[in-house]
Amino acid sequence: MPISENAKAVLEKRYLIRDENGQPTETVDGLFHRVADAIAQADAVFDAGADVAATAQSFYEMMTGLEFLPNSPTLMNAGRPLGQLSACFVLPVGDSMEEIFDAIKNAALIHKSGGGTGFSFSRLRSRGSTVNSTGGVASGPISFMKVFNAATEAVKQGGTRRGANMGILRVDHPDIMDFITCKNDTREITNFNLSVGITEAFMQAVEQNTDYPLVDPASRQITGRLSARKVFEAIIQSAWQTGEPGIIFLDRLNRDNPVPSLGEIESTNPCGEQPLLPYEACNLGSINLVRHLKKTDSGWALDRDKLSDTVRKAVHFLDNVIEVNKYPLPEIDQMTRSTRKIGLGVMGFADMLLYLGIPYNSEAGVEMGRTVMELVESVGHQASQALAAQRGAFPCFDQSVFRDAAPLRNATVTTIAPTGTLSIIAGVSSGVEPVFAYAYIRNVMDNTHLIEANGILKDVLVSRGLYSEALMQQIVEQGSLAHIAGIPEDIRRVFVCAHDVSPVWHVKMQAAFQTYTDNAVSKTVNFPNSATQDDVREVYELAYRLGCKGTTIYRDGSRQEQVLNIGKVN
Ligand code: CDP
Repeated sequence: MPISENAKAVLEKRYLIRDENGQPTETVDGLFHRVADAIAQADAVFDAGADVAATAQSFYEMMTGLEFLPNSPTLMNAGRPLGQLSACFVLPVGDSMEEIFDAIKNAALIHKSGGGTGFSFSRLRSRGSTVNSTGGVASGPISFMKVFNAATEAVKQGGTRRGANMGILRVDHPDIMDFITCKNDTREITNFNLSVGITEAFMQAVEQNTDYPLVDPASRQITGRLSARKVFEAIIQSAWQTGEPGIIFLDRLNRDNPVPSLGEIESTNPCGEQPLLPYEACNLGSINLVRHLKKTDSGWALDRDKLSDTVRKAVHFLDNVIEVNKYPLPEIDQMTRSTRKIGLGVMGFADMLLYLGIPYNSEAGVEMGRTVMELVESVGHQASQALAAQRGAFPCFDQSVFRDAAPLRNATVTTIAPTGTLSIIAGVSSGVEPVFAYAYIRNVMDNTHLIEANGILKDVLVSRGLYSEALMQQIVEQGSLAHIAGIPEDIRRVFVCAHDVSPVWHVKMQAAFQTYTDNAVSKTVNFPNSATQDDVREVYELAYRLGCKGTTIYRDGSRQEQVLNIGKVN
């Protein structure tokens, strides 16, 4: 198995089954057999004569060959009594005490199982408005978000992974200004990522520098008007200061809503890549692109046949996950099976570019992003059609936007996940992000530190007789190769890290992947500490123009706790 010691440490710490003394009762190899066997079982549901053992073997080989990995909850829970396999959920938050606290309870159950939850708080009446039953005044969405946050904090202590939430508020909610600044104190609402739900009408008002109406969701009354530019500036100012809130383009999420008759999409999962209807869950999986290269006479090249083959197997795998999944609520079971959304994506894209000798921040890099994702998307849809022929289309197909086209087994097929843990297991760059640093220390949970150096760079330096400990030390300290004179220009041009990539290239790459992704793309646009608010505005406007579904930015050093630290040993 090509799994590194670091990857084994992560798997042992978080994923292996343990006895009551905390001792693992399975091996890493056993984990992959457990997952492959459990997921292959679904074949028998559709075909009594299916060769389940052969499917299990092919799933096992695909995972242990690090060609494809399903999201963490599948690795943790498949073949176990809990059996909750999805990473992403969206829960509705209705405007009553019962509905608010039902959502908190349901979120706690999901967090316990390793899933993340997204919520739109846009239906909650605004702060200070009337409460009919008591004649009192309403607390408003932000004060309830703090309750959700505290519940997540408490559940975290028992679970294997820290509960994560997305909180969304529409830009026309009367409490929007409080929402934009509610995490400026970075100790507040720490278990949430926040995004402002931006509408087309708002973006037009920004462009034309006009006011727009604020609407109370309970009374549907216009409660006031704000200058769109002022609100846009406030979002930029806050994001520049702390990285939050992000923005999501609600009308774009709904333009791509495959079954509008089931409802409106109001939220995404915690990291923003998976728009979902209320009570919908989605399971993700990612293909490791580094394992889909072949050696040719002129160097490395994308192995299109192998990639196509893995895409077909992965779609089969993820559709099976929907079948054997044990959902935390009957509503989620019903909703998720009616659309059968899956989210197949990629990881190791930046590493692949290093092998190909293509800089991430170049037209050729962006073109390669399009090439790869176009293939994943088209073969993924063919595979979902082939499954529909065997297993039937997803139950709501006849009400879907695809009803006049070939039946699909899954209402969505592709999503680009962050692959925070999966990329460590596979030992590659995460998602479609550039390499963060070529030699660095990674803080994992509980103050565990993993030292990682980029093997691709090391091999190139060794082969050119340039490798030395002192040079690696210099890279750790500087975090980038850009200013190291001892490294030749042709290497520095290709081996760029996240901070060498200008924000504009980050957005161009996100947009390239979005073009061929049914759901959305997890991407952080990294800014240097010296970036200005104008730089942030430029990126937001570009993301909007290029068709992205949202934007998350992070300015280096703007938050105290960074997951990845350049050059820090502690
Ligand atoms: O690599 P892994 O499968 O562990 O997860 P990821 O790709 O980094 O994140 C995918 C999704 O899992 C996120 O968008 C969240 O919905 C969920 N997640 C979570 O609930 N809690 C976390 N601590 C990390 C991820």
